[in-house]
Amino acid sequence: MSQPLDLAAMPPQTAPGALKDAWQARLERWYSHPGLYRWSLSNPLTRWLTRRRTRKLFDLMAGFVHSQVLLACVRLDLFRTLHQAPATLPDLAQRTGMAPAVLQRLLLSAVALGLLEHRSQARFGLGHLGVPLAQHEGIVQMIEHNHLLYQDMQDPLQFLHNAWSGGMAEYWPYAHDKTAAQLSAAQADKFTRYSQLMAASQGFVVQEILSSYFFDEHRCVLDVGAGQGRFVGELAAHAPHLKFQMFDLPPVLALAREGLQAKGLCERVSLHPGSFLDDPLPRGADLITLVRVAHDHPDAVVRQILQKAHAALPEGGVLLLAEPMAQADDEDGQADASVDAYFHFYLLAMGAGRLRTPLELQALMEEAGFTHVELVPNAMPIHARILLGRKSQCLPLVSQNGVN
Ligand SMILES: C[S@@+](CC[C@H](N)C(=O)[O-])C[C@H]1O[C@@H](n2cnc3c(N)ncnc32)[C@H](O)[C@@H]1O
Repeated sequence: MSQPLDLAAMPPQTAPGALKDAWQARLERWYSHPGLYRWSLSNPLTRWLTRRRTRKLFDLMAGFVHSQVLLACVRLDLFRTLHQAPATLPDLAQRTGMAPAVLQRLLLSAVALGLLEHRSQARFGLGHLGVPLAQHEGIVQMIEHNHLLYQDMQDPLQFLHNAWSGGMAEYWPYAHDKTAAQLSAAQADKFTRYSQLMAASQGFVVQEILSSYFFDEHRCVLDVGAGQGRFVGELAAHAPHLKFQMFDLPPVLALAREGLQAKGLCERVSLHPGSFLDDPLPRGADLITLVRVAHDHPDAVVRQILQKAHAALPEGGVLLLAEPMAQADDEDGQADASVDAYFHFYLLAMGAGRLRTPLELQALMEEAGFTHVELVPNAMPIHARILLGRKSQCLPLVSQNGVN
């Protein structure tokens, strides 16, 4: 590995007290008793629990097959095809050019996973998990994109020893190379490719933000790491009183310009090409948004971005940070912590960023000077969670007392 990685702060529950330690050790001894498995299956009160655990373990082992079934269905365009009309095996074999006997294995696997379902007259139709895949181009593009990650991780130990030598690292030019944005035209393709993927996959995140936060109090929004401007475009339609500034690397904002023109937004949006590593953020906005940006970067860079955001805001201004956050320490226990594993590995393969807990991000925001930092509840934390912080209107206590 060429770059040092930040260490995450361990959540308090992973450092239990001696009593809890003893209880966990006892449970572990109990679980590993040779007769427990058979006894628990013979007891109707415990059978469900053992079945559920076994099933979970099986799913962990089979996860690679599941994601390959998904990818094969995407590559054969089965979700869109079957959304138009259910079809029989011979019909699908003809359309895809696959031998019926192998295609049948794929279709039956997809049925087993809830992606497809059996319909009358020996036809296959969309299952409940297949419906969104026929409707949302962003999910389909992410499934194809994940193939890069899974190729990198084929040998997980080799990957852990050398995480940044694969296709994912290559895919994200800025994650390794601070000067990537000034490089040759050949690099321009890379900026186009990831910006299109981000625009396609941002829809669910934007929906979470727009349905969780009221923008009425604001006049002007600066979106940092704005990409091609999907968030700005949707927020402009949602809150017609707002003006916008977009800040991103020059090759990305060059791509954004055309889209803004097509939407008739040029009057309301100003573009500010630059790098938050080298340049200050533009002033004038009373709300700064950071959507899926912090997790791409190590703590030192996140500190830099947050300090620049704090400096650019007027007193009373607000920072809204939205991105996937670690679910493991979720207070109400509603979130599914298993999604953390995906993001830990995705961000490791990408570069030096990491998945942070809301508490870690809150601490970084407070360190940069933001106060009243709070987590805004939102309906679908798997897409993103939302933190808000204010640039306080009060002077810091130390200055008021004349103590520095
Ligand atoms: C993961 S993308 C997220 C884009 C968009 N906010 C979204 O959610 O779809 C991160 C964005 O940060 C931008 N970025 C990365 N490094 C940057 C830098 N040093 N200065 C400015 N923008 C940067 C990238 O170009 C990219 O558009």
